[in-house]
Amino acid sequence: MFQAPYGTHDILPEDQPYWNFLRERADEIVRLYGYERIDTPLFEDAGLFVRTVGVDTDIVEKEMYTFTDRSGGQMTLRPEGTASVCRAYIEHGMASCPQPVKLFYQAPIFRYERPQAGRYRQHHQFGFEAIGDGDAMSDAELIDMAWRFFASLGLKNLTLQINSIGCPDCRPAYLSRLREYYAGHKEGLCGDCKVRSEKNILRLLDCKKPTCQPLTAGAPRSVDYLCQECSEHFEQLKAHLSTLQLPFEINSGMVRGLDYYTKTVFEIQPQEERGQSTIAGGGRYDGLMEELGAKPTAAVGFATGIERIILNLKKQGIVIPEPVKPMVFVAWLGEVARRKAVEVAGELRLDGIATVVTYTPRSLKAQLRQADGAGCRYVVIIGEEEVAQGVVTLRDLSNAQQEQVPHGKLAKKLQQGN
Ligand code: HAM
Repeated sequence: MFQAPYGTHDILPEDQPYWNFLRERADEIVRLYGYERIDTPLFEDAGLFVRTVGVDTDIVEKEMYTFTDRSGGQMTLRPEGTASVCRAYIEHGMASCPQPVKLFYQAPIFRYERPQAGRYRQHHQFGFEAIGDGDAMSDAELIDMAWRFFASLGLKNLTLQINSIGCPDCRPAYLSRLREYYAGHKEGLCGDCKVRSEKNILRLLDCKKPTCQPLTAGAPRSVDYLCQECSEHFEQLKAHLSTLQLPFEINSGMVRGLDYYTKTVFEIQPQEERGQSTIAGGGRYDGLMEELGAKPTAAVGFATGIERIILNLKKQGIVIPEPVKPMVFVAWLGEVARRKAVEVAGELRLDGIATVVTYTPRSLKAQLRQADGAGCRYVVIIGEEEVAQGVVTLRDLSNAQQEQVPHGKLAKKLQQGN
């Protein structure tokens, strides 16, 4: 028997109300903050991600689904959304639009990770990118939007952590200090970190292995090495977040697992999990456009994992709106009535009334049970007698009342009753 590939999952009808709820709330938040939807292809030239996410990151080193297409091109299933959006921004000349260009996406994301609760090989993200504004207010607005989004879902007990990891001017001094620090602790590092310490020292701060954690905790902090511009930017960000009354914490060890970030980085996590299950992460990436050959363009964004949000909604017992059920079930008895039932169902649907009917003969009792299971409020019962008289029997399942209604007046009666 075939099964969904390891680390992927089907989104079954019973989970769809969560997805609908999140989509509705995401649409509302992007409307409030002036974002527009963008959809980019599921796969891109592999080089796009290698260049932006970074050669020495977990994503590029170990997690990308890369394949050679039939003309020999190296393609990668999107392992994150920001690079694709920036590629589209450049390709479609969005630099000539009023800035910032604010773009929103909902996209499946593919990473060959070790699956566990909340970690999948295919997950889905809502992503938000504000491109073309370097002001710290832009970072603050984005973080505010993320926070309001989770509040609108009813999620509680979240923490907001921020950090600044500087820019190409000030980062080299910090990196050399970090190299010195780790050089003195080489024997304590895990295998991956030993290799990375040669190539990309910043990534050592991402390591979640228990053996490396104490070293991370004692490592030099990027905020102590910021140039004046980055330092002012960070001070302004903190001031704006305070004005917006967002309860942030500074996590000086947070660098995030992608190479494109400059200045601000931030994450939102459920309080009790502390780092195990980040529900949103993002930051500023002022150098990414240039990396792709465009003129320097400041930008900031974040993404949130939809499956992780749903896990947290369930964990916190948050009740989401009931899905809308079909209004009417048409039950019939006998072949003549069966044909009439199909006709009645067709007419009700034309009048915009959601209607269910089945075609295999069943007892009235079985059909009533089915109507109840489908959540229908009304059952229209048609037997041979009803057909002969041009009426139907209408039963209201909410109060077990029933009456005969002329066939031609059924739709109006149902519309009036609701
Ligand atoms: P990221 O932190 O790699 O950032 O992913 C964003 C969110 O996607 C995470 O906070 C988490 O909720 C969810 N997520 C990540 N990996 C998985 C997984 N394997 N299974 C389930 N959920 C997952 C980015 O992707 C950046 N592009 C965010 C960004 C946008 N930065 C600037 N703009």
